[in-house]
Amino acid sequence: MAPSVSDIVPPVTETIADLKLTATTQDSSPSYPFYYPYYDPNEKFPPTQVYEHTDPGAKADRAKPHLLTPETNVSHLSPFLGTEISGVQISQLSEEGLDELALYAAERKVLIFRDQDFKDIGPDRQIEIAKRFGRIQRHPTSGNVKGYPEFHVVYRGTEHDRLKDVIPDDRIIRTQWHSDVSYEKQPAGTTFFFVLDQPPVGGDTLFASQVEAYNRLSPEFKKRLEGLRAVHSGFEQAEASRRRGGIVRREPIQTEHPLVRRHPVTGEKALYVNQGFTRRIVGFKMEESEYLLKFLFDHISKGADFQIRARYQPGSVVVWDNRVTVHSATGDFNPGDRRHAVRLTPQAEVPTET
Ligand code: SIN
Repeated sequence: MAPSVSDIVPPVTETIADLKLTATTQDSSPSYPFYYPYYDPNEKFPPTQVYEHTDPGAKADRAKPHLLTPETNVSHLSPFLGTEISGVQISQLSEEGLDELALYAAERKVLIFRDQDFKDIGPDRQIEIAKRFGRIQRHPTSGNVKGYPEFHVVYRGTEHDRLKDVIPDDRIIRTQWHSDVSYEKQPAGTTFFFVLDQPPVGGDTLFASQVEAYNRLSPEFKKRLEGLRAVHSGFEQAEASRRRGGIVRREPIQTEHPLVRRHPVTGEKALYVNQGFTRRIVGFKMEESEYLLKFLFDHISKGADFQIRARYQPGSVVVWDNRVTVHSATGDFNPGDRRHAVRLTPQAEVPTET
């Protein structure tokens, strides 16, 4: 019989060695119980304040000598986005190397680092590294880690199916393209994601380039999008959490962002709308807004020639730039298989069109 949640919620551990269970218990419990999703109904966050963000990629050496050394192997997945990298440890990068990582993530949009020790370096060091890319968002509704509200935990197992909460069973297509927490005044930038337990097959993450999605549009259509702003809402996420008896740590907000945003380091323009959180176009009547958003969401989700699939291996860390991509989890794996992953989500600048 599957263990109940109370059976497997671990005590808070003190040492890094304690983070991983021994082989004897792995079959029935998460390999990293320290990161089991934690929900404290009394945990409350105040409204998020705007802060001054400077992108570390702006000061990086364009040649990236600290990241792309002779030992580093690089393999591109698509001309538009996605690069697999091995032969370098994120945890060992110097400050210059981390700046170059920010720049490379902005340029390639998704970086898949293989054979990383990242999941074993402990929460303090993981947070220290991610913080270099911006203030880390504390999620209002998802599982976090006891004592570490910076972590956003993604967990699907027999005893707790987070994906079911987000994507109802009666949907034919169980993908949900989104850019993380785009309802924030300063939405996510360079984002870190690492898998602790994964199914034998499936559970990949899909990514699309919002730069290439923008580039495919005609000059006349691009002109029509100029100056438009859209409302991104956190209300539905909060309401869904309340409906299932979950928590809301911070009251939800709606924020207007430009429909097209410019990346502060690369200067590239990207569509900035997503099915997950973008609700309407400011100044348009309802039908006009629905029509245009539906066109854009279809265009992005059907663009298989500007999408990639990030496939996980033990030790993979995926770093993506949420400003220029959308992504979707795939719930294609056997519900009996455990998928346990953790995200650290630094917040970037207030989006601007120019
Ligand atoms: C996310 O949406 O940040 C998680 C993606 C995944 O679970 O594959």
